[in-house]
Amino acid sequence: MIKKYLFLVLIVLISFHLSAQEWVVPAEEGVKLSPFAFNDSTRKVGADLYNTNCKSCHGDPGKNNVINLVPPPPDVASVKMQTNSDGALHFKLVQGRAPMPSFKNILSSTDIWRVISFVRSFNDKYVQVIDTKKGMAGTAASNVKIQVAWVKEQNQVQMVISGMKENKIQPVSGAEVKLFAKRYFGNLLIDEARNTDAQGKALFNFPKDLPGDSAGFVQLIAKLSDEAAYGEAKADTTLAIGVPTYRPPLNEQRAMWNVVQKTPIWLLLAYTFTVLVVWGFIFYVLLQIRAIYKAGLRKDHETTD
Ligand code: HEC
Repeated sequence: MIKKYLFLVLIVLISFHLSAQEWVVPAEEGVKLSPFAFNDSTRKVGADLYNTNCKSCHGDPGKNNVINLVPPPPDVASVKMQTNSDGALHFKLVQGRAPMPSFKNILSSTDIWRVISFVRSFNDKYVQVIDTKKGMAGTAASNVKIQVAWVKEQNQVQMVISGMKENKIQPVSGAEVKLFAKRYFGNLLIDEARNTDAQGKALFNFPKDLPGDSAGFVQLIAKLSDEAAYGEAKADTTLAIGVPTYRPPLNEQRAMWNVVQKTPIWLLLAYTFTVLVVWGFIFYVLLQIRAIYKAGLRKDHETTD
């Protein structure tokens, strides 16, 4: 009996210990700041993200209607939540800690900052500090522009990236960029990731034999890798730099997978012939059975006579 009680006490102690355990945030993570300013539009997107990803556990902010878990998820408006630095919130969302899931692969870094902007709207004392070290700090995503052009002599695709910085349009330098060609299924990475130079320029070697459409057009997608710093900047451009390739549409000619009107002729003939042979055989068997039956009848007459 005593053993049983001791065991229970131990369990309680252990769970207390677990729930009381500090969630340690590495110093360099704790000082991280959002690269963009929190405003009504980030809060609005953040609220939607919160409702789909967090509300089921953390409840309605300020209502203390959190789900019953050990350790309990703190209310968003609580002191426990709000004493976290922006970087600590970001870190905890990226990492997760059971039973809270990691949002690393669920939310982009930009979206995590948007959720944090929503979380901060329940703290009257909060004053945001923006990360000014990041190249395009504070700029909204729409301000970053990507231009894509073809440099014929070098067989290269050139990307030029600019954005608003300190109220001026300036080249975005030192940013990682990627170029993709749109294919039937997904996107094909062209060359490898490059970093923009001081003029915000990056060059990509374009393969000589990449198939385009019937006129050689290839749809290109240019992207900046660091979504957290530049937003979801992206540019779609169509250039006539592929090898003209004629791909008949799946339903254009007579083909196996088509409807009767467009079936290949040989298939129609082979099918009809096979059906006729099979039915012919069935009728032949039936006729033979009839012949046997008749022969039987005749035999009967002969014996009764
Ligand atoms: C499955 C339930 C669940 C979901 C979903 C969830 N959380 Fe949590 N969250 C928890 C629990 C439980 C804790 C306490 C974890 C701990 O202290 O070990 C927690 C802790 C936290 C903390 C740390 C608070 C502190 O102690 O400093 C933050 C910040 C947080 N959650 C934010 C969020 C946000 C934002 C979302 C949505 C993107 C979210 N959580 C989704 C259950 C959840």
